Amino acid sequence: MPREERSSFKSSDKSSEASLRLGVLASGRGSNLQSILEAIAHGELSARVAVVISNKKEAQALERAARYQVPALFVDPSHFRSREEYDAAILQQLKEYGVELVVLAGYMRLVTHTLIEAYRDRIINIHPSLLPAFPGMHAHRQALEYGVRVSGCTLHFVDEEMDHGPIIAQAAVPVFEDDTEEQLSERILAEEHRLLPQVLQLYAEGKLKVEGRKVHIRENTSLRTTR
Ligand code: GAR
Repeated sequence: MPREERSSFKSSDKSSEASLRLGVLASGRGSNLQSILEAIAHGELSARVAVVISNKKEAQALERAARYQVPALFVDPSHFRSREEYDAAILQQLKEYGVELVVLAGYMRLVTHTLIEAYRDRIINIHPSLLPAFPGMHAHRQALEYGVRVSGCTLHFVDEEMDHGPIIAQAAVPVFEDDTEEQLSERILAEEHRLLPQVLQLYAEGKLKVEGRKVHIRENTSLRTTR
């Protein structure tokens, strides 16, 4: 059964009148979720987080959500026989909370056709590499082992292939010779936190249009992909 957590901490966001309802799926720390919640609170993102769902009971993302009085659900994968059945349960929750756009923010689980079909071009993933380089797990380690001089993060719409769908935005960072995974991860994470709310705002403004593999950004004057 989903677990809902609430706390008495007052949310200061101005999003109650905003129309775009986000559903955030997260498996761990939730710093990208935090960047969304803060952008909303600061009036930089016209949306509201309708629900946060995790496949991990102890995910810090659930605590962060509860602190902002956002419904936080743990949906236990061990209660389902297949990934499709699990995603059907997630889908039910997303619909119940009226979610219009799904954000995979550190969601370490492959999503299936069940979810993708229901939210075609309405699921955005953030990945810590410059796709199509280094998809999948341990993207930072892969980049360091390969010896690239530049890495970064990618925001893309989700399709049936892992880390593959149409690319919305990317930001690059340098890779230094003596970088550890942690150092590279931290450098990329700063770009993730900057880019994710910007991309969500473009979506909220109806400025993203998917055509095949390409995402067109209408009247884009604000998106900064480099510092
Ligand atoms: C982020 O770096 C995100 O790009 C990555 O996990 C981290 C989650 O951090 N996602 C993936 O690797 C997905 N393939 P967070 O929980 O603090 O947002």
